[in-house]
Amino acid sequence: MNICVTGGAGFIGSHLVDRLIHDGHTVLVIDNLSSGNKEFVNPKAQFIEMDIRDSNLSSIICEFKPEYIFHEAAQTEVSVSMNNPKLDCDVNLMGLINVLNAAVTCGVKKLLMPSSAAIYGDLDTLPLDESMVGIPTSCYGLTKLTTEHYLRIYHEAFGLNYICYRYSNVYGPRQGNGGEGGVISTFAKAIANGLPITVYGDGDQTRDFIYVDDVVEANILGLENNVTGIYNISTNIASSINSIINEFKCISNSKIDVSYACERIGDIRHSRLDNKKAQQDFSFKTTFNLRDGLYKTYEYFKANK
Ligand SMILES: NC(=O)c1ccc[n+]([C@@H]2O[C@H](COP(=O)([O-])OP(=O)(O)OC[C@H]3O[C@@H](n4cnc5c(N)ncnc54)[C@H](O)[C@@H]3O)[C@@H](O)[C@H]2O)c1
Repeated sequence: MNICVTGGAGFIGSHLVDRLIHDGHTVLVIDNLSSGNKEFVNPKAQFIEMDIRDSNLSSIICEFKPEYIFHEAAQTEVSVSMNNPKLDCDVNLMGLINVLNAAVTCGVKKLLMPSSAAIYGDLDTLPLDESMVGIPTSCYGLTKLTTEHYLRIYHEAFGLNYICYRYSNVYGPRQGNGGEGGVISTFAKAIANGLPITVYGDGDQTRDFIYVDDVVEANILGLENNVTGIYNISTNIASSINSIINEFKCISNSKIDVSYACERIGDIRHSRLDNKKAQQDFSFKTTFNLRDGLYKTYEYFKANK
C-alpha cells in the first residue's frame, strides 16, 4: 500500500517507516527536519523535505495517492510550548489542519496520529483512562487535546476515519533529548559517554515508559483493524527515575555519577496510563520489558557516541 508518514525523520516516525517498509509498503516521508534527522529516514522510502504548514502539502500528498497517512510531525517539547505558544499552536494546530484537509482531499482510508498523556495534566487518579476529562497544564497538552477534537469533528463532518493514540513516555534508539520521554535518552547518552547525570527532584517520581517498537506495533494494529477513536498506548506500569538509574547501573556495568537538583516547576509527580481499551479493541499488548528496552537504548547510544 502507499502510505504517507509526516515526521518520518523523527524518533517515532523513523521507526514506524522502517516497519512499514519491512512489511512491504511504499512510503512517502514528509519532514522539515526541524528536530528530525535525514539519516534516520529509511533509504527505501521517498523523502520530501517540507513543512506540514506548506500550502502545497495537499497536492504533494495527493500526487502520491496514499491509502493511509500517519501524522507524527509535531512540535514536541513542553518547554517550547510554554516559551513560544504561538509556534506550538502554529505547528500542532495549523499544521494539523493542513494535514487533515489533505487527508480529506485525497480520500485516505484513515489518518493515524498521536495525542499524548500530556492531555491529562495533573489528574491524580491513576491509572488514567480514556474516559477521564483531561485538564492540560501545558500549551503542548492543550494543542494535543485540541487535536483530538479536530479529529472527531473531521470524522463527523467530513467522514475522515482516524485513530488517535495517547502515548505515554516513549523511549528507544534515535530519541533526541528534547521531546517527552527524553529522560531515558538523556541518561543513556550521558552514561554511554561516562558523563554525570542530573535528576530533578528526589527520583521517586514515576512514569509509564513504553519502548518505541511497542508504539510502532500499536500503529500497525490501528492500520489493520477497523477501529476509530482515541486510545491510550502505554505499559500501565509505573517506573521511578531511581529505578531507571539502577537498571542502567546493571546494564552499563558502571558507577553512575548522579546528582539531585530541585524539582522543575510544572513536572507531574506520577503518571500511568490504562491500556485496557486498546487491549480489548485491537489486541494491543507490549512485548518489551523495561530492562530489554533500556538495554537496546543504551547499546544504541554506546554505538553512536
Ligand atoms: N516521544 C514521546 O514520548 C511522545 C509521547 C507522546 C506523544 N508523542 C508524539 O509523537 C510524535 C512524534 O514524536 P517524536 O518523539 O518522534 O518527536 P521527534 O521530534 O523526534 O519527531 C517529530 C518530527 O516531526 C518533524 N517536524 C516537526 N515540525 C514539523 C513541521 N512543521 N513540518 C514537518 N515536519 C516537522 C521533525 O523534524 C521530526 O522529524 C509527536 O506528535 C509527539 O507529540 C511523543
